[in-house]
Amino acid sequence: MPEIILQTRGLSKRFATGDPVLEDVDLDITAGEIFGLIGKSGAGKSTLARCVNFLERPSSGDVLFEGKPLSSLAPRDLYKARRSMGMIFQQFNLLMQRSVLGNVLFPMEIAHWKKSKAVARAKELLDLVKLSDKENAYPATLSGGQRQRVAIARAMALSPRVLLCDEATSALDPETTRGILALLRDINQRLGVTIIVITHEMLVIESICTRVAILDNSHVAEIGPVREVFTHPKTEAARALVQSDGRAERLLRLIESNGLTVEEVLSRVGIV
Ligand SMILES: Nc1ncnc2c1ncn2[C@@H]1O[C@H](COP(=O)(O)OP(=O)(O)OP(=O)(O)O)[C@@H](O)[C@H]1O
Ligand SMILES: [Mg+2]
Repeated sequence: MPEIILQTRGLSKRFATGDPVLEDVDLDITAGEIFGLIGKSGAGKSTLARCVNFLERPSSGDVLFEGKPLSSLAPRDLYKARRSMGMIFQQFNLLMQRSVLGNVLFPMEIAHWKKSKAVARAKELLDLVKLSDKENAYPATLSGGQRQRVAIARAMALSPRVLLCDEATSALDPETTRGILALLRDINQRLGVTIIVITHEMLVIESICTRVAILDNSHVAEIGPVREVFTHPKTEAARALVQSDGRAERLLRLIESNGLTVEEVLSRVGIV
């Protein structure tokens, strides 16, 4: 039986100011999978990401990490569970006054690691994200893709079992996006880290996810294998998402991401 690493059970969230943002969300994330969460702006994706590690307390329901309900954990154990869930964001959230190495060291400093051990680990991580030559650079001098690589190295510092990526490629151009997605896939395959990809872009989900959940109107509208959900949407929310993403445009991007030109494809299917 595959291990279920993360579950939400009846998870609901309502802020003091308004309607529920999440209602009765049940998700089961399998250890080692790359799971996609998609939905339009305001659907509650980021709120769900913050509830999953209790940065935001759910209004009701619970989250189980490795089978243990987070609501019942002592502060020390909750801190441990949180450390097992790394996070990266659209805006990278780097410390601008610290070097690349300083940024990656940060979580290890908070966790009181010995300096020499932390530096060795940080260098190993910068090697993983292919930024070893930038350890003394400052974030302001890096490109968006490089900044996200630093954020990934930092998120991986304490060897999390789960990496939550909230719109991690939304500020990047298509080529840089492909590089970051390839890195995430590599981290998943080589280190076995479970990855949750939160995005409003279908192409991102299609590129690396095995399963996807569609969040709509504070509910999970649909969940299943990516191909099934995107090619045979069963709900109105899924259909709207697939249609609004423009099939022709997606096809072109898919062709491009496979390194083909449109002319090559047309000639292969015998049109030119
Ligand atoms: N701290 C908060 N207080 C009050 N309302 C909030 C708070 N955080 C989020 N919301 C509301 O919850 C809803 C969902 O927001 P959330 O950021 O989770 O959506 P999202 O799916 O991540 O959107 P986007 O794609 O734009 O990032 C929005 O209506 C937002 O205004
Ligand atoms: Mg968001």
